[in-house]
Amino acid sequence: MLLSALSTDLYELTMVGGYFAVGLSGRATFDLFVRQLPPEALREGVWTVSAGNAAQGVGFAARQVGARCSVMVMDTAPQTKIRAIERLGASIVRASYDECWRTVESHGSPRMSGHFVHPFDDDRFIAGNGTAGLEIVEDLPDVDAIVAPLGGGGLLAGIAAAVAELKPGTRVYAAEPETAAPLSVSLQAGRPVYFDNWQASFVDGAGGKSVLPTMWPLLSKLAGSIVVTLDEVARAMALTAERARVIAEGAAGCAIAAALSGRAGRGKVVAVVSGGNIDLTKFAAVVGACAKPTEP
Ligand SMILES: Cc1ncc(COP(=O)(O)O)c(C=O)c1O
Repeated sequence: MLLSALSTDLYELTMVGGYFAVGLSGRATFDLFVRQLPPEALREGVWTVSAGNAAQGVGFAARQVGARCSVMVMDTAPQTKIRAIERLGASIVRASYDECWRTVESHGSPRMSGHFVHPFDDDRFIAGNGTAGLEIVEDLPDVDAIVAPLGGGGLLAGIAAAVAELKPGTRVYAAEPETAAPLSVSLQAGRPVYFDNWQASFVDGAGGKSVLPTMWPLLSKLAGSIVVTLDEVARAMALTAERARVIAEGAAGCAIAAALSGRAGRGKVVAVVSGGNIDLTKFAAVVGACAKPTEP
C-alpha cells in the first residue's frame, strides 16, 4: 500500500500545507479559473461552499488570477482550515452543515454572490481530480485497487474516470465513516438516498448527508463503499503518523483504514491520503484516545 500515493507540487504544498487543498482542488480550480472562466465571472468574484479543503483550492486559484473569493464554511470545519482560507485572502461566511448541504444540492445560495464554483458536482472540478488517478497509474502501473474518501464524490468520480481509461479493471472504492455513509446506503438501495442519523465527527472532509442524483451515475459504478468505524480511522491516523511521519486528517484516515481493513481485496491497494488539515489539539486527542494502531 502506498500511504501517500499522490505526488504534489512542493511549491503548492508549502503555500497551503495540505495535499488535497491545493494538490487536487487547486489543480482543478486553477485550470477552471485560468482557462475557462470568462473575464466577467472573474470580475464579479467567485465563491464556493466547503468544509475547508476545496475552499483552499478555490481561494488559491482565485488569488492567482486576482479574483475576489468568498467561502461558505461549514460549522464543522476546524480552525486550521478556516485560518488557511483567510490567509489566502478569501472571506468567510459561516453556515450550519445543513445550510451548506442544501447549497451543494441546489447549486446556489441567496446569501452568496458571484460565480459559484461547486466543490464536487462540476465536470471541470472532477476532471482536475482525475489527475490524481493519472498519477497513481503513472507511479504504480500494476495497481489493483484504489480507496479514496467520499465527501460529495468529485474526487472519486475523477479518479475512477481516469483509471477506467488507463487501467480498466482497477477496483475503485469509496471510504466512508460509519457516522456519515450515504453512498453505502445508496448502493444498497440501488438509488441515491439520504443517510439517516447523520452525525458530525472529526472526519470533517468526508461523509456527506446524501448522494446527489447528478453524482449517482458516476458513483454507482464504483466497486463499492467501505464503511469504517471512527476508532478504525483514529488507529489508521496513528499508524500513518508513527510509520510514515505523515499527519492524515480524518477523511484521509478513512481511506487508510478502509485499505487496512482488507475489504478492498488483494493485491496492490492505494489509499489516497487526501488531506492533512486537522487542528493539532484535535489530532492529539483523537490519536491519543484510540486503541493501539492496527498493524498492517
Ligand atoms: C481531505 C478530503 N478528502 C476527501 C474529500 C472528498 O472530496 P469529494 O467531496 O470530492 O468527495 C474532501 C472534500 O473536501 C477532503 O477535504
